[in-house]
Amino acid sequence: MKLFIDTGSVAEVEEIAAWGVLAGATTNPSLLAKEEGADPGESIRRICELVDGPVSAEVVSDQRDSMVAEGRALAGLDDRVVVKVPFSSEGLAATRELTSEGIPVNMTLVFSAAQAILTAEAGARYVSCFMGRLDDISIDSESVVGEIVDALGPHRDAQVLAASLRHPMHAVIAARLGCEVATIPGKVLKAMLAHPLTESGIARFSDDWKSRPEFGDWLRGLVDGSTAAAR
Ligand code: E4P
Repeated sequence: MKLFIDTGSVAEVEEIAAWGVLAGATTNPSLLAKEEGADPGESIRRICELVDGPVSAEVVSDQRDSMVAEGRALAGLDDRVVVKVPFSSEGLAATRELTSEGIPVNMTLVFSAAQAILTAEAGARYVSCFMGRLDDISIDSESVVGEIVDALGPHRDAQVLAASLRHPMHAVIAARLGCEVATIPGKVLKAMLAHPLTESGIARFSDDWKSRPEFGDWLRGLVDGSTAAAR
């Protein structure tokens, strides 16, 4: 499963792209609106450079023609932009038109397998299902995402993108269900790093190594080339 970061913050992408695990990013109007003083176009361009992969930027109109016009303009920001289109009959029509022009679409706000089937038929590259928002209203996101993956089947162009992830287990569930992509907020990506046994294990390795100061000298020599490396 590929990992995208779900954010409007360039600083957050800068920090987490350095881990080397990001394949792309998603933004949305709410995430971009949270960034006081930032120009949305500049943020999208910079995020494209940082992740060097697909970056979703969303249209805000609700009529096909204006969605298409906004989608073309957003796609003009950078070759890596994927136009995010909210699910609706107008959105499906806009998706068909944008994809026929070679502009990739991420259809967002998909909450059922029935909607996902329509999305895939309209030619969307990504089908974004929002797990957290389903769980918020007591609909089991795991079963919905599972149904979407099963309904679209193994041989398909549309990729299932798990979105609205609120905790690390959402990412694990998405991977186990066969989603091609999960888009994850920085806070959740950071939570995915943490395990108490990793932290205590690193501390123990470090303490044991320090108990043999000559080993420290040996390693520093190996690094700077002053110790001959025996093979
Ligand atoms: C997806 O691309 C959306 O930007 C995002 O995952 C929405 O998440 P939320 O439900 O936390 O707003």
